[in-house]
Amino acid sequence: MSEVLKAIAERCSTRGYTAEKLTAEELDAILTAGLQAPTATNRQELHFTVLDGQDPILFDIQEVMGARARPTMNFWYDAPTVVIISGEKDFRWTAVDAGIAVGNMALAAEAMGLGNVILGCLKAAMDGENRERYAAALRFPEGYTFQIAIAVGHKATEKEPHTFDASKLVTVL
Ligand SMILES: Cc1cc2nc3c(=O)[nH]c(=O)nc-3n(C[C@H](O)[C@H](O)[C@H](O)COP(=O)(O)O)c2cc1C
Repeated sequence: MSEVLKAIAERCSTRGYTAEKLTAEELDAILTAGLQAPTATNRQELHFTVLDGQDPILFDIQEVMGARARPTMNFWYDAPTVVIISGEKDFRWTAVDAGIAVGNMALAAEAMGLGNVILGCLKAAMDGENRERYAAALRFPEGYTFQIAIAVGHKATEKEPHTFDASKLVTVL
């Protein structure tokens, strides 16, 4: 099996991390995977904000989410690195492009033996009354809004990839 297909088959969401940081090379490879993702008309309308897992802004977002979600663990599962993807608010394909980019990043992490989990749960907090403060703190370019995030680090927990029933999900005409 090709390395790409192996990473696709073995990728799963990791919800527990060790304290070990990513190396500069690992982080660079993950960001490059996001940057190399295709965007509609090659618009490249995404921006990637890299945060250390101890960054106070994450705890701030958690606090705002907490009023709604009351999670037992922080939303980034103590991962040492979180990347927040913002994108041009009024471009038709921004959400799709952000999804492709974060998918590339998840597969790059998996291919390097790193755990990762795509994070959408902060969207309401990011789009809520604090959105301008967060956009400034996270250095979103003008007119960009939160799209999706990904937490990455070394796995402290193991999980099997999800299963699926292709007979229900696929129609071949
Ligand atoms: C757009 C999107 C948003 C997600 N948001 C979250 C999230 O906020 N928190 C979380 O723990 N997992 C989140 N996930 C992970 C999914 O729950 C996970 O991919 C799904 O349960 C399938 O499991 P697997 O990734 O292990 O195959 C998200 C996944 C996607 C694609």
